[in-house]
Amino acid sequence: MTTVSMTVNGKAVTGDVEPRTLLVTFLRENLRLTGTHVGCDTSQCGCCIVHLDGESVKACSMFAVQAEGASVTTIEGLAQGDQLHPMQEAFREHHGLQCGFCTPGMIMSAVDLLQHNSNPSESEIRHWLEGNICRCTGYQNIVKAIQSCAADMKSLPQAAE
Ligand code: FES
Ligand code: FES
Repeated sequence: MTTVSMTVNGKAVTGDVEPRTLLVTFLRENLRLTGTHVGCDTSQCGCCIVHLDGESVKACSMFAVQAEGASVTTIEGLAQGDQLHPMQEAFREHHGLQCGFCTPGMIMSAVDLLQHNSNPSESEIRHWLEGNICRCTGYQNIVKAIQSCAADMKSLPQAAE
């Protein structure tokens, strides 16, 4: 066992893990932050996407110890109390949720997209989501939600995270 420490959703956390423990396992099992999902465990589906020092990463593709000292944001860290993040609100509004299994990773990925490109075209959104697999929606409503959020966030530039 080894001790790992990081900041998760603004709080300092420490835990004992085996060196082979994945970041997603640490988040779900040690911290009980089960909003981050595991779909494939082979770095293809994007259900496990979190932000690591502000960039989206697949939490099944790195070890917890590789996040030592980092700042991690999970889906649980986006809302401010009862107030949903604009991207969460947009998914709700545009029926991008469906079964919800891919949703946490989709939302984390989409927030990262708008942080890099505040006005993405539809093809840029679809290209960005290539690492996120949704089995329910055909992506139509997810794309609509992201387009709508991009429009809203232009007037709320501080609201990303
Ligand atoms: S569980 Fe990480 S990409 Fe599928
Ligand atoms: S909403 Fe069901 S997998 Fe995407």
